[in-house]
Amino acid sequence: MSRRALLAGNWKMHLTIAQAVELAQAVAAVCADCRDRDVMLAPPFTALAGVAQALQGSNVFLGAQNVAWEAQGAFTGEIAPPMLIDIGVRMVIIGHSERRQIFLEDNVMINRRLRAALEFGLIPVLCIGETLEERESGATFAVLEKQLRGALHDVPPGQAEQIVLAYEPVWAIGTGKTASTEQAQEAHHFLRNLLADIYNKKLAETIRVLYGGSVKPDNIDALMAQADIDGALVGGAALQVESFKRIIRFQ
Ligand code: PGA
Repeated sequence: MSRRALLAGNWKMHLTIAQAVELAQAVAAVCADCRDRDVMLAPPFTALAGVAQALQGSNVFLGAQNVAWEAQGAFTGEIAPPMLIDIGVRMVIIGHSERRQIFLEDNVMINRRLRAALEFGLIPVLCIGETLEERESGATFAVLEKQLRGALHDVPPGQAEQIVLAYEPVWAIGTGKTASTEQAQEAHHFLRNLLADIYNKKLAETIRVLYGGSVKPDNIDALMAQADIDGALVGGAALQVESFKRIIRFQ
């Protein structure tokens, strides 16, 4: 079973519109010859329109960093799925650990966001991952299972096949500490088995599972060599074209 690799850049709360457009143009140029892999950029909301324009005619997917669960209404500070589609967004990050930890999003909220994204035809990049404390206390798999089952509650298989999953151990995000390739592969394998249990083996084999957490030019090749790692969700190293280029061009 070959899954198409996805290299996704999460720009978080960085870059002005002008900086974002410049970086997007540079990434689009790098991707001009990307035939066997997908690339996604998730700028901050303020830069979405500019980046959408910069990516026009390229094969880079435009992503957003979150999405509301209603189509419109009194939800101050939120952005609705049709608004993202209107601007050209195709993918959306949901359940990032920064949303969970800093903004207290729980599995119920994440499930609602995920289902709304799917209803409107956005491809969700669903993030899950354990904290250092959870890993050290041996709770990693229980935590991952709770997060995955919670996020997928009431998501039918016909929609689930659209989802991209991202395993991001919280202790590896922005810390320079990557999970070892063995730790990452072990978690990815566990998640794929869990997807088979929730849905079926065929679906589990189709869904792409990305690794995230201090992915850099010097560890991408080893990560991508693992059987169950289908791509990367990249923060810091996606903010410079040179490092992201090397990640896109993993071997
Ligand atoms: P990082 O962030 O690559 O800077 O560790 C990854 C992420 O949060 O998606």
